[in-house]
Amino acid sequence: MKNKEIKGLIFDLDGVIVSTEHNHFLAWKKTADQLGVKFSEHENEKLKGLSRVDSLKAILAIDNLIISEKEFGTLMLDKNEFYLESIQLLNESNILPGVKNLLVSAKEQGIKMAVGSSSKNAPFIVKLLGLDDYFELIVDGNMVADPKPHPEVFLNAAKGMNLKPSDCIVFEDAESGIKAALDGGFHAIAVGNKNIAEMAHEYLNDLTEFKLDLYA
Ligand code: BG6
Ligand code: MG
Repeated sequence: MKNKEIKGLIFDLDGVIVSTEHNHFLAWKKTADQLGVKFSEHENEKLKGLSRVDSLKAILAIDNLIISEKEFGTLMLDKNEFYLESIQLLNESNILPGVKNLLVSAKEQGIKMAVGSSSKNAPFIVKLLGLDDYFELIVDGNMVADPKPHPEVFLNAAKGMNLKPSDCIVFEDAESGIKAALDGGFHAIAVGNKNIAEMAHEYLNDLTEFKLDLYA
């Protein structure tokens, strides 16, 4: 018996398709060190899925720091430069387990797919990974007024595929992303992050555990 009839799959990028979350962490750690803010993987957990602006705001909020608009802009630019440098060699080998097989099978079965990411670098990264051909569209951080945890990114992805949210699964590794998916009326599957397992409809350690046949 099938769990649910699904017509579309929406993938978060960082932490679901590709192992870039640690690169984001290291780049923010450098920023936090510069600001004298104590910042570990623990504090970083809440930042996952947030936009670049909201991430920096969250780091400043740890110590109630107030900085000028100019310094804010400079820190964001520096963070992105450091991050981009750290992913220069990103390639197909950085695609997380189960992703490629799922993309291939879903495409064969005519299931529509999209990326729904807070990252403004999303299209560039998908290209580096050689995965562009699998997605109908990539909704990235440049294309939304309200980033995750607001559902706009996923709603736009569903709309772009001409599908209703209830016809789509969202795969997410972040609390902000699961919240966005649930609020948008999607079937939310948490991947690889046990901290958010309870919030989501389902939990998978990685996408090798996803059984497409149960949904399509
Ligand atoms: C999300 C990541 O996908 O994109 C966050 O989970 C990151 O860690 C955010 O901060 C914004 O990314 P970028 O590439 O626009 O700075
Ligand atoms: Mg993510």
